[in-house]
Amino acid sequence: MSAPTERGRFITLEGIEGAGKSTQVEHLAGLLRARGRRVITTREPGGAPLAERIRALLLDPEHGAMCETTELLLMFAARAEHLDKTIGPALEAGVWVICDRFTDATYAYQGGGRGLDIAPIATLEQLVQGALRPDQTLVFDLPPAQGLARARARTGASDRFERETLRFFTAVRDVYLTRAAAMPERYRVIDAAAPLEAVNAEIARLAVELDQTLGAAR
Ligand SMILES: Nc1ncnc2c1ncn2[C@@H]1O[C@H](COP(=O)(O)OP(=O)(O)OP(=O)(O)O)[C@@H](O)[C@H]1O
Ligand SMILES: [Mg+2]
Repeated sequence: MSAPTERGRFITLEGIEGAGKSTQVEHLAGLLRARGRRVITTREPGGAPLAERIRALLLDPEHGAMCETTELLLMFAARAEHLDKTIGPALEAGVWVICDRFTDATYAYQGGGRGLDIAPIATLEQLVQGALRPDQTLVFDLPPAQGLARARARTGASDRFERETLRFFTAVRDVYLTRAAAMPERYRVIDAAAPLEAVNAEIARLAVELDQTLGAAR
């Protein structure tokens, strides 16, 4: 009889708009694959067919005045679907999952940015995820003005969150940094203000480390 498949590892990337998450998700995945890991990349909100439909509702600037509780519930509705259809099955099959945003973003955006209470967010986290938490979370940190300038320099119309104020993103950033400081074993704060080559080098170094530490048999 063969040994049961070891569960995959779950790595999330967080940070404000324009921090470089989407750029580094693919970079990190490539580095881990080169080290022999099976890896999928995914994103939130989204990452499964119904969750992507919910993403479109959440990001559409036409819904600018969405009730904050609606926004919170849609985020977790999308997450439930994402976990059920994509993340859970991959982890079960021994595949590593690298996800562009996850529940830290809900604490940061809906908690910090919108000012919602933390307690219901924690309750929904427990309902939707049970005991599942990321094994490692990389927080891409940079001043909001710099992130927004990068995001706005990209082509395409800005989404509902990109239209928020510097004050909003300062609150978002603060929550990320506070959570990282409170749980240092789960988080890495990356200097995302650095030039792309420097961030690339940092991620390359981290890939070796994560492959060894997270990858150690449990
Ligand atoms: N270290 C860097 N220095 C300068 N520009 C960068 C750096 N990293 C990424 N960029 C550029 O900044 C823009 C935003 O990067 P990216 O799309 O990866 O950010 P993001 O964190 O995914 O943003 P969003 O939250 O809006 O999806 C892109 O045009 C990207 O090429
Ligand atoms: Mg992105």
